[in-house]
Amino acid sequence: MQKFNISFLPDKKKVFITEEVNLLQAAAEAGILVKGSCGGDGTCGRCKVIIKEGNYTTKQTGKLTKEQLAGGYVLACQTTAESDLVVEVPEASRLSEHQVLLEEETVGEAVSQTSVDPLFKKIKVELPEPSLTDSMDDIERLKMAVRKETGIENLRVSLNTVSNIPGILRKEKWKVTVSLADVLGYTEIAAVESGWDYQKYYGLAIDIGTTTIVVNLVDLESGQTIAQKGSYNQQAVYGDDIISRIVHATEEKNGMEDLRNAVLKSLNELISQLASENHIDINVINYAVCAGNTTMVHLFLGIDPKYIRLEPYTPAINIPEPIRAEEVGLQICKTAWVYCIPGIASYVGGDITSGAQVIGIDKTEKVTLFIDVGTNGEMVLGNQDWLMACACSAGPAFEGGGIKCGMRAMRGAIERLDVISDTLDVEYSTVGGAKPVGVCGSGLIDCIAGMHKAGIIDRTGQFSSNLTNQRIRNGDDGPEYVIVSKENSGNGQDIALSEVDIKNLIRSKGAVFAGIRTMLRKMDLPIEIIEEIIIAGGFGRHISIKDAISIGLLPDAEFEKYKYIGNSSVKGAKMVLLSKTARDEAVQLATKMTYLELSIGNDFMDEYVSALFIPHTDMTLFPSLSE
Ligand code: FES
Repeated sequence: MQKFNISFLPDKKKVFITEEVNLLQAAAEAGILVKGSCGGDGTCGRCKVIIKEGNYTTKQTGKLTKEQLAGGYVLACQTTAESDLVVEVPEASRLSEHQVLLEEETVGEAVSQTSVDPLFKKIKVELPEPSLTDSMDDIERLKMAVRKETGIENLRVSLNTVSNIPGILRKEKWKVTVSLADVLGYTEIAAVESGWDYQKYYGLAIDIGTTTIVVNLVDLESGQTIAQKGSYNQQAVYGDDIISRIVHATEEKNGMEDLRNAVLKSLNELISQLASENHIDINVINYAVCAGNTTMVHLFLGIDPKYIRLEPYTPAINIPEPIRAEEVGLQICKTAWVYCIPGIASYVGGDITSGAQVIGIDKTEKVTLFIDVGTNGEMVLGNQDWLMACACSAGPAFEGGGIKCGMRAMRGAIERLDVISDTLDVEYSTVGGAKPVGVCGSGLIDCIAGMHKAGIIDRTGQFSSNLTNQRIRNGDDGPEYVIVSKENSGNGQDIALSEVDIKNLIRSKGAVFAGIRTMLRKMDLPIEIIEEIIIAGGFGRHISIKDAISIGLLPDAEFEKYKYIGNSSVKGAKMVLLSKTARDEAVQLATKMTYLELSIGNDFMDEYVSALFIPHTDMTLFPSLSE
């Protein structure tokens, strides 16, 4: 098999690859992250690169314009080398180092739990000195003292700890600091230090999202979040959604390792930045709690995810045991434990359990609806007496995916927007007050609502043929509405929403509403029964409930019933990290939820088709809109 040198510009990075490796894979190998939204299928057109020198073969594609073809553009995933190559990766094709919108208020926030009882802690104990009449062995003596101090019965000691124990116990006259790690079912004496002076110790609360990853560094003694960092999930080079990643993991050679390494790299980079910026050694990070959807947890732990996407959709594991950080590959204290919050089913994972726990859905009398308006569209309905969960596969539209001008709620994203009915002009605000570069979920919702109200689009999302305005024009994908012209945008490009984008968004909102209705139908309950609606998701901070109702994304309920809680997944991970009780409750909560498989029967499909209108085919479901 022939091998070729590929050099990437402007990075000046080189890789040596065999003829069968495509340029998308080659770039990944070189550490250059190229957008691979479709996972290398050749359908998304996002992995464009320019061949500067050399011979290659590439498959024909409709994703490149004539000018691009003439300029040497190819789709990286569809191109292999026939000689050494020089390849330029344009900025637009890169997974940009985007900043995840973090919730600053959680940093430094005191814990709401009255007492911090973390999964890892250090305690001071003084052992009774041995004598001729009390010659109990050192370990038993230590365990007895810890038991007396904490009331913990099931204690275990690793061989590692036992090996140096005699000297450590005697060094400071039987005064020692003992590290205790809770390992589901027993407590491990993880370390023993002589004396009572000890270093601070930390834990991590982690949200492994399909698109973004957020890590909180938590002081385990005070319960305070010291710092928080987020970034994109580097698995995105293998596809935007979980299905394309499962396909990559199970069908490509080394696919599983690719995905595991990508998520570990994302996490370890964040952890090392957090540690160095806060001047702490990674070895004092002693416990990590992760919340992620079922596929993310499988890929993170290196568990085969193949059957998640095949009927009858069974994951390998819903309730993982704690695992050593070293075994997982997380670069923190080697003997630290990593615990993943349990999931419910293939498409409703630990991130949802985590969120459901934060809102205390299993402790309230109120019938509560909890929705994560993201790609998987998971939702939980119920209260202390019953709980049901489902995933409606809303698609990434509200996270900005599949929408030309769409983006996550990052700096420069339009997060609020008003269409002025008579002039069809736009008023907007952006994240961070920066010049606009795209529109995030909340802005997209406002935009459709405004366009519909102004008569630009009809109830099916089609553009009206009898409106003329300079903002409405014909673009590459048919009619489109220009929100911000290139002269006023932050990236020199027009920000416009096309009919294709709008139909995509309508499908997403239809799926969410249909999911809600299907769960209610299953329980034979009317929509009015819902007393509280809690929304999580990657929107901006300013989702307009009014607009979300007016497009038929959310039920027509009084605004007071609504609450937006941001990244509930990482909040739940922190709760579990800081409380054994919360950890036990999370396990119970996951097992209590009944999973509703939406692909069985016709209910969901019927509901979905009826929801493909603005707001719905059945206007009686939206009484406030016809008033
Ligand atoms: S077209 Fe290459 S990754 Fe989608």
